[in-house]
Amino acid sequence: MIIAIDGPAASGKGTLGKRLSEHFSFAHLDTGLLYRAVARVMLDRDLDLNDRDAAHEVALNLDVTHLDDPRLRGAQMGEAASVISGYQPVRDALLAFQRGFAEQPPGAVLDGRDIGTVVCPHADVKLFITAAPEERARRRHLELQNRGEQTEYSTILEDIRRRDERDMNRVSAPLKPAADAITLDTTHLDANAAFQAALAFVKAKVGRA
Ligand code: CDP
Ligand code: CDP
Repeated sequence: MIIAIDGPAASGKGTLGKRLSEHFSFAHLDTGLLYRAVARVMLDRDLDLNDRDAAHEVALNLDVTHLDDPRLRGAQMGEAASVISGYQPVRDALLAFQRGFAEQPPGAVLDGRDIGTVVCPHADVKLFITAAPEERARRRHLELQNRGEQTEYSTILEDIRRRDERDMNRVSAPLKPAADAITLDTTHLDANAAFQAALAFVKAKVGRA
């Protein structure tokens, strides 16, 4: 069974993906970390983020065993990831790993921007998670504060709006709900309420919970 979760930055995809994967004892992949990891190698090597060929090369040789590195979660990495994720060859290079991950028994949960549309168009369940930009900025602000990163709320809100704009309007795999996705607006739902709502959707769709 494959559960695909897509949505904009800080909508709660990762948190929900983790909860659902634990509930069903499935593997979980936050695919944003792959793009963040490519960006990280580029920045570490002082490579220009506008250099598509360099980004492609890094993506082809990406070591996917260190995705739990907390440095990947920083704001700078999210911004850089959204630049290199616009390059189709980078996306292609990361596709086989994601599809292979999705196929593992007894099931997998993948979250990102194009899971229901490109990576796993045949996923059993597709969820599209949204929330108002102000609420997403509030969540991300709190999260970064807890990690000791001091960033202004207004800067985070701007970053989120810019990233939404870029992710939704790019040519390669733009962020949009799959035709058969269920949209869940979590603006007024905490993480637990979002999980309960998603679980109800999964149950209705595949008849198990
Ligand atoms: O956690 P947050 O939603 O802020 O970001 P993320 O999911 O880690 O993704 C970082 C960036 O990677 C996004 O802004 C997208 O541009 C890109 N991304 C993508 O293009 N496709 C995916 N499946 C996942 C992320
Ligand atoms: O993966 P994505 O960027 O979409 O978001 P996340 O990392 O799962 O969630 C961002 C932050 O919002 C986390 O600190 C979550 O605990 C929090 N959150 C929330 O307050 N309410 C929700 N319904 C979901 C997440």
